[in-house]
Formats: sequence, structure tokens, C-alpha cells
Amino acid sequence: MQTEIIEKIAKKEGLVCLSLFDGISCGQQALSELGINIKSFYASEVDPYPKAIVAHRFPNTKDVGDVTKLKGSDFPEEVDILMGGSPCQGFSFAKGSKDPDFDDPRSKLFFEFARLVTELKPKIILLENVPMKSLSEEVITTTLGIDPVMINSALLSAQNRKRLYWFGIRQEDGTYQTIPVEQPDDLGLVMADILEDNYITDRDKSYCIDANYFKGGNLRQYFDKKRRQLVFESDSLCKQVGVADVNGWDILKRVYSKYGKGPSQTCNLGGNRITKVLISKVRDKSKTVRVGGRGSYDRHEWDSVDQLHWRKLTVLEVERLQTLPDNYTEFGVFRDAKDYDPTLHEHLQKKKISNTRRYKAVGNGWTVSVIKYLFGHLVAEAEQLIIDGHILEDREVA
Ligand SMILES: C[S@@+](CC[C@H](N)C(=O)[O-])C[C@H]1O[C@@H](n2cnc3c(N)ncnc32)[C@H](O)[C@@H]1O
Repeated sequence: MQTEIIEKIAKKEGLVCLSLFDGISCGQQALSELGINIKSFYASEVDPYPKAIVAHRFPNTKDVGDVTKLKGSDFPEEVDILMGGSPCQGFSFAKGSKDPDFDDPRSKLFFEFARLVTELKPKIILLENVPMKSLSEEVITTTLGIDPVMINSALLSAQNRKRLYWFGIRQEDGTYQTIPVEQPDDLGLVMADILEDNYITDRDKSYCIDANYFKGGNLRQYFDKKRRQLVFESDSLCKQVGVADVNGWDILKRVYSKYGKGPSQTCNLGGNRITKVLISKVRDKSKTVRVGGRGSYDRHEWDSVDQLHWRKLTVLEVERLQTLPDNYTEFGVFRDAKDYDPTLHEHLQKKKISNTRRYKAVGNGWTVSVIKYLFGHLVAEAEQLIIDGHILEDREVA
């Protein structure tokens, strides 16, 4: 590996970082948790809410605004690390399409990242994005000249979140070399580790939390579409919603919601003993549900199934899924607001961020532990330089 940047880290010299599409600066959080010294952190972002959160968490961040207006030639310092995760909404998995997805104005922003790599010649580059169709992935790989690694955040958090990471180091000839990254060891984190109360889940790892999580979910979306993670009151996963018109003991007549766990199954169930599950809702307006058996109807409001026994994740829990510090997004400082007073201490001007904005910002963000794992490779190399005696630690010099 090219050693200039590694030496800088080993000597604890401050690095210059530029984070494009910075969002809530999960990359900066990861570097700070790794103890990497930062001389200057420049952030390009256009959304005022994540910008405000970053101004509160990392007040020294230098806001450089819209990436499309950023010129390498205007940049005041040599950049050590350039990182970014351009907006992903324009990428699709759709099969059959012959073209990559770069006509979409959001996907196209990747080329701003590539342009700044060429103009700024950073020593380290890190690009993150969603898994996409191979044609789009190839365009990115060919443009940057390095290969991506796919990491599922589930290994280092309680959330399933598969993402591609192009992580490279600049060579003397100006090209980039892929930094080899193994899959991290599974830390075994599960939803129960991040919940605030005694609600429970039917799965260990949360579905991926995206920027639309604030729109909320419902049972059908959750169980059928496998999205918008819900958690359940501890006794509601096995939910009886009706009584079947069959002969036998009461226990055999119980009908369970298909939107929940079945009761524990014993061997040799058959005939009337098979667990009965509510199949369909027959009249939308009256919310009457048919629970089966000789034309009988039982009235059960979907609302009672839908609302009483589940909840969506709290913002704090979603932050934990991204391995952010608790309440990372609670406050923001809006430096561009009309009532911002530069003469007043910023802590006096911090404002609460609404839950909707917080969910959105966190859903858009990176899993900090994954970014930390990636940059941790640089720290490990730096430590090796010290072990090998190439760099004297500060205390030895003193
Ligand atoms: C997927 S999010 C990145 C989140 C970020 N990695 C984090 O740690 O939170 C993409 C971000 O790009 C920002 N963005 C969109 N257009 C932009 C532009 N022209 N210049 C800078 N940022 C932009 C969006 O506002 C959004 O916050």
C-alpha cells in the first residue's frame, strides 16, 4: 500500500477530508470514533436539515454546499480522503433494461464524485451505494478503476443493509488500487439489543431502514413486502383474530392473524388440528373480516389488529440500527436561517429536529460501524508501521 497517507495517520497528523453528499456526516463520526486526527473536514450537502445536524455535532465542519458547483481548482487544501454516497434513488435492479441508470439526475451525481477524484487527486477514496444492476455497477467500477466490496451492515449492526463500497488508494502513477477488504466478523447484534422497551420482533435483524421510513408501515406491508420494520407487543405476535366454525375443543377453533407468529406447533397436526390463519379481508369499508368456516363471519376491526399490538421503531432505535450515538440527530443549528445570530453561542441557537426529518436523515445515512470497519484498515496499516519501527510514536520521540 502507498504509505504517505498511512504515515500521516501513524504520526497522528491531521487529515484533510472532503465528504460529498455528506448527509449527517456518518463518515466523520466513523473517523472520529477511530481516533483519526482531522485537520479540516469539508462537507458538500444541500439539504438544510442534515446540514443543521452536522453543524451541531461537528461545528468545525466547513460547509461547501452543492457538489455541482464545487471546483477542484478552487479547493484550498490537498485532500487526503474523498468520500461520498451519491443519492441512490435513481438506481434500479430492473432486469431487461440494456442501459445503465445514469440518465436519472440523482444517479448522475456519481459523475461529480468521479470529476472531483480527477481534479483533487485525493489519496484515499470511498464511494458507497446500493446494490444496482450490473451495468450501472460496471460504469462506476470502470470510471474509478477499483472494485467494490459488498458488505451487509447486519454483520456489524442489527440491520440488514447491503451496500457496495468502492474503497481505494492512490498510486504513484495516479491510478487507484482497490484496498482489499475481507468480510467483517459477525458481531451477533440483534433487534433486541437496540429496542427501548420490551417489544419484540419476529426476526433478529431489522429490514433496511430507508429515507421513507417516517411514512410508517402496516402489518401487510411488513409481512408481505418485507419492508418498514415493525416491532410487537410481547404477547401479540401470536394473535388470535377469530373463532372457526369447526368441531372440537376451543383451542382448535382459534384463528390466528397471518400477520403474526403462529402458536407453537406440535407434531402430527392434521384435520381440525391444523393452525387456522385469517386469509383475507372481504369488505374494505366495514373492515369486516371473514375468519372461515361455513359462511360464518366474525367482526374484527383491522385497526385492532393493526394498531394496538405493534409500533414502528423509534428514532432512537433507528439511530442505533445505524450504530450512531443515541440522539445523534436530536438537535440542529441552522446557520443559514434568518434568525441565526453569529454573535451568539451556537448551543443557545440549537433547535429540535422533528422526528420526520430525523427518520429521513438517518435512513439516508451510512452504518457508522461499517465505515469505521473500512477506515479501520488504514489505522491497522498505520499501527503496523509503528510496530515495524518505521514510525516512532510521539511518546518515543519525546
Ligand atoms: C444517500 S444520502 C448520503 C448520506 C450520507 N452518506 C450520511 O452519512 O448521512 C445522499 C445525500 O446527497 C445529498 N445531495 C443531493 N444532491 C446534492 C448536491 N447537488 N450536492 C450535495 N449534496 C447533495 C442529499 O441531500 C442527501 O443528503
